[in-house]
Amino acid sequence: WNGNREYVDRGAANAHGGYYTQAEIREIVEYAQCNYITVIPEIEMPSHSEEVLAAYPELSCSHMPYKESDFCVGSEYTFEFLENVLTEVMELFPSEYIHIGGDEASKQAWKSCTKCQARMEHEGLADVDELQSYFIHRIEEFLNAHGRKLLGWDEILDGGLAPNATVMSWRGAEGGLKTMAMGHRAIMTPGEYCYFDAYQDAPHTQPEAFGGYLPLQKVYAYEPIPDTIDVDQASLLYGIQGNLFAEYIPTEEHMEYMAYPRILALAEVAWSVPKNKDYANFRARAIEAVNYLRSQGYNAFDLEHEVGNR
Ligand code: ACM
Ligand code: ZN
Repeated sequence: WNGNREYVDRGAANAHGGYYTQAEIREIVEYAQCNYITVIPEIEMPSHSEEVLAAYPELSCSHMPYKESDFCVGSEYTFEFLENVLTEVMELFPSEYIHIGGDEASKQAWKSCTKCQARMEHEGLADVDELQSYFIHRIEEFLNAHGRKLLGWDEILDGGLAPNATVMSWRGAEGGLKTMAMGHRAIMTPGEYCYFDAYQDAPHTQPEAFGGYLPLQKVYAYEPIPDTIDVDQASLLYGIQGNLFAEYIPTEEHMEYMAYPRILALAEVAWSVPKNKDYANFRARAIEAVNYLRSQGYNAFDLEHEVGNR
């Protein structure tokens, strides 16, 4: 994201990234399975796809690299490409769910692209939100036909939710509550409480992080089930999730630092009824847990010396 934001060739100075071989993916999935963890891949579509469109510009509306981050939804080639990708992904990941992203599409190019406009006309779609919904619905049919379920961020509600989809609510809780009211499963991960890429202590004491201040106490205060929803709807809350996007996280040690101990707070939120929550009690246990983690070589945040007071 610095400089001209173009991808560089493998081997170039400062090049980052890479790929896993199929054998490496299989090893990760199997190792996780042995530890009772299911790895769910997220393959971003129709947006956050700059890297695909730099390599395959013909999949964007303009056919030019570095112009758009959205796939052209008017083009059949887009579906052929993504179905091929998902087929390979399903061969590697046995998870019930495949996450297809769905968040933060600009949808701008779709408004003037002749193929996207022709698609909207042909399908009777009123706006680009409905065009995204058409896209997600079609991808869902493909996944369902192969025995998998679609999972996406809450933008997949915009323009109409696909019939069997499960939603991750990140832009607040509303999307998740709406999802459950519609009889679908939701996973709560609202930005205000669940994004561990935000600062966990006074920013001047911390390494550079994504914006926002999310101390341990705030994570612990999260209550995913409001009093206003009934038991049937609450049963559709499939779980809660902490997010740790890595733009400001250059090393694994740094990842541990951002995750611990906040992930412990979120785990206790997930497994506790509200009346049993007590922050002072939790904080004392979390300090012990941090000391234990540090003694085991993990780079946990030094909670005992938290500065607080942003
Ligand atoms: C997201 O943070 N864009 C899901
Ligand atoms: Zn297009």
